[in-house]
Amino acid sequence: MRIRRTTRTLVAALATVLLASSVAACGNSDTGGDPGGDETMTLGFSQVGAESGWRTANTTSIKEAAAEAGIELKFDDAQQKQENQIKAIRNFIQQKVDVIAFSPVVESGWDTVLKEAKDAGIPVILTDRAVDSADKSLYKTFLGSDFVKEGRLAGEWLVQNTASATGPVNIVELQGTTGSAPANDRKKGFAEAIAANPNLKIVASQSGDFTRAGGKQVMEQFLKANPDIDVLFAHNDDMGLGALEAITAAGRTPGKDILIITIDAVRDGMQALADGRFNFIAECSPLLGPQLMELAKKVHAGEEVPARIETQETTFTQQQAKEALPNRRY
Ligand code: AHR
Repeated sequence: MRIRRTTRTLVAALATVLLASSVAACGNSDTGGDPGGDETMTLGFSQVGAESGWRTANTTSIKEAAAEAGIELKFDDAQQKQENQIKAIRNFIQQKVDVIAFSPVVESGWDTVLKEAKDAGIPVILTDRAVDSADKSLYKTFLGSDFVKEGRLAGEWLVQNTASATGPVNIVELQGTTGSAPANDRKKGFAEAIAANPNLKIVASQSGDFTRAGGKQVMEQFLKANPDIDVLFAHNDDMGLGALEAITAAGRTPGKDILIITIDAVRDGMQALADGRFNFIAECSPLLGPQLMELAKKVHAGEEVPARIETQETTFTQQQAKEALPNRRY
């Protein structure tokens, strides 16, 4: 009698375990994960590359925040190639990660792979850079900066600081990666801000691919072709830092003979600004990791999230850079 009762209890317990695991398996087949369950959440992240100081700080922020949040991070470096990002996203889908996040190297050409993720039931978060897909249901949210505003802030500073100029002010522009959201948007914002001042003229504009080497090489060409450059607007600090070498080699003094405006405010850029070699920086924050992990947990749990979340940013003059430098984290 006693033995029979124990057997019945064991059978009941086994049945409960089997039922629970089959329910969990059903959930996984839809979502590729374990929404709300006890398993470690898996986040597949496809990074643009390692083209700039900003990117390195962004990668560190994401890796540290994932470890802090107890999220298993599958990290892929696309080396600035869209085809590598598409491959990485397909791998994440195959591995049935719970959430996919990525910083798209360029804006267009994502619909097919995003549809594949959607069909697999894996939510996608865009970080840092946006895509131009008309179908907004292909991703859950965007977390990053207002790049148009950054370009506009750069242009507004220039308008204010050249107000007394009597003749033409010749500007050269080092664009970021061709087709990327920050290159498109910063160009647009800057052009809008200077539009009402016909003496401010962009005499040359070319991509330096967001790298120091690119910035240096393109600035050398600009200097050869345009003897009277007054201003350099670089879409990021790294290209501005590369351009410094070209400007000095051409016998001109950066920050004095040629005003230099950049975007990002990474440590090396801030140092150049504090030293008087740059004149103004509009900040773009790479510290997206903690917010990204919070969002990933929410979308995994099926919670509603805002369609767009913008980072809080500021601007720096030379004096402000001197004050901020000692506490700059990146
Ligand atoms: O997408 C953000 C931009 O990408 C940063 O401004 C730049 O430095 C980086 O490479």
